[in-house]
Amino acid sequence: MERLNGEARRPDRLLSWMGGLADPTRLRLLHLLDRQELGVAELCAVLKLPQSTVSRHLKLLSGDGWLAARTRATSRLYRMAELDAGARKLWRLAREQTGAWAALEQDRARLERLLATRRGAAERFFAGAAAEWERMRAALYGQGFVVEALCAALPRAWTVADLGCGTGDLAARLAGRVRQVHAVDRSAAMLKVAQRRWGDRKNLTFWPSELSRLVLPDGCCDAAFLFLVLAYQEDPAPVLREAARILRPGGRLVVADLTVHADEEFRRRMGQARDGFRPDELAALLAAAGLAAPAVARLAPEPGARGPALLVAAAERPA
Ligand SMILES: C[S@@+](CC[C@H](N)C(=O)[O-])C[C@H]1O[C@@H](n2cnc3c(N)ncnc32)[C@H](O)[C@@H]1O
Repeated sequence: MERLNGEARRPDRLLSWMGGLADPTRLRLLHLLDRQELGVAELCAVLKLPQSTVSRHLKLLSGDGWLAARTRATSRLYRMAELDAGARKLWRLAREQTGAWAALEQDRARLERLLATRRGAAERFFAGAAAEWERMRAALYGQGFVVEALCAALPRAWTVADLGCGTGDLAARLAGRVRQVHAVDRSAAMLKVAQRRWGDRKNLTFWPSELSRLVLPDGCCDAAFLFLVLAYQEDPAPVLREAARILRPGGRLVVADLTVHADEEFRRRMGQARDGFRPDELAALLAAAGLAAPAVARLAPEPGARGPALLVAAAERPA
């Protein structure tokens, strides 16, 4: 019984691994595929061998467990398989012993040229797409993944509040990323939709509550979000004070709301109490609520967005 890396191995398994290595073309293939996943045509180009030869060796190496393959469109792509300890040991030895072969040097140079051509395809695409990229990205992939990706940056152990959660879209995304989400809204109609869509999330609690009198205890949240809510307040001060109160020291409040606009028809139609905020006005409101280092930024209007421009502010409960 053979022993490789302390594991008992059947001799026929070992012989089959060794059989895979017992050919210079197969060794050249393994050197390439250990480094880079490649298709048959690419391998032929790098090795300068006909397809029938390359395919025959690929088949043998795949059968012996050296290679894994997947299909992309009409191509079959090969790469080195996840090897067990014994095969890894054999491959390390074979790689060391063959690394200085002149043929491998040429293969490496041709592989580099091939990879440069591949990268060139991406560079050519971006050279043509740079001016249009953001519009193209939105059309191809939407915008939702950005929010999802940013939520993924939040610490898993956090508790957060979505104040004025509406139909709960943000709260649900947050619930997938943090320990606990408190979603608060006074509108029974909005909460009904939110409950129907997201009521099965175990770590998402909906609170029917007025934001100026939150039922949540002092310092219970690591972060709180107030998205498109402040323009509905005759007096935003009590809402901001309550948001500050539920933050732990060092916790952050993030506000997204409207910049001042002159579209009175819009304001009336949306039932808003105010026509937005100037950045300095919002910063002063945050500071008056006891929040430190308020930073407010106007956002550039998104192409296709029909409402007034927005601003985003963040401030911190002092430690
Ligand atoms: C425009 S919606 C925004 C919903 C959600 N934040 C979003 O970005 O999709 C505003 C929400 O805030 C809620 N709201 C406004 N003022 C509130 C207050 N003082 N107390 C509780 N909820 C409030 C409304 O009921 C509504 O659901």
